[in-house]
Amino acid sequence: MQYENLLINSETNVAVITINRPTKLNALNKATIEELHYAFKELAKEKRIKVIILTGSGEKAFVAGADISEFANFSEKEGGKLAAKGQKQLFDYVENLSTPVIAAVNGFALGGGLELAMACHFRVASHNARMGLPEVSLGVIPGYGGTQRLPQLIGRGRAMEMILTAGMIDASKALEFGLVNYVVEQEHLMDLCMKFAGKISNNSPVAIGYAIKAVNAGFNNSINGFKTEIEAFGSCFGTSDFKEGTTAFMEKRKANFPGA
Ligand code: COA
Repeated sequence: MQYENLLINSETNVAVITINRPTKLNALNKATIEELHYAFKELAKEKRIKVIILTGSGEKAFVAGADISEFANFSEKEGGKLAAKGQKQLFDYVENLSTPVIAAVNGFALGGGLELAMACHFRVASHNARMGLPEVSLGVIPGYGGTQRLPQLIGRGRAMEMILTAGMIDASKALEFGLVNYVVEQEHLMDLCMKFAGKISNNSPVAIGYAIKAVNAGFNNSINGFKTEIEAFGSCFGTSDFKEGTTAFMEKRKANFPGA
């Protein structure tokens, strides 16, 4: 696929996807959502890629939301379809990817932008980041999982405050709320994300995939998280990564995971 709205750097074992519509503050139009789905799918297929970092181009925005100009004239039916398709194609897809995805929140993360950051496995922000779900100010509600993931991450009362006021919080408030794990100067944002990616890359990709599945299962009402953990734990014992990890420990050497 020829990407028109993304820049992808996958030269090393840490891939960086940059959403690249800076004149629109990287707003998520339909084409960008499709490209993101495809990019995540292709990168996840590559065994060599251990971690994906997602960020926005420019110094001002991660993603300033879904592209309002695209849905302003939608009917009820079209609105419902927009949310259903987007959740499946991108937001749920990223959350359940077995390759870890870190959101490097480099500026505004609003509406669909914050929802996308929340679908990533964890978030690191720069000092200038501003986060919010301003949808009710537009007469709509968050439709890409925001009403579910925000309370999961920061608690119901804080999520209600953010959603109902439609206000923005700054990076330090986001840190206090646990919406982001760290806040750094913008010039250090990618370095810090790379540092985490490096640590993750040393671990078993197979076990990481199972861990993501087990953690996510606890937030899915139709799945028993503890049961999923037991099954995933058991599955690890049948993998080459487990043999290598335990053997390396006993041989007092660093593990070199085959990823199978
Ligand atoms: N959808 C479509 N276009 C968007 C957008 C969005 N969510 N967010 C920003 N843009 C566009 C603006 O329309 C503008 O385009 P233009 O230059 O062609 O007019 C460009 O990006 C720059 O934005 P601008 O509003 O001029 O920047 P600003 O610094 O004055 O304000 C924000 C920044 C983020 C506060 C403001 O852009 C904003 O409120 N955006 C919408 C946020 C939102 O409600 N998102 C949730 C959508 S559900």
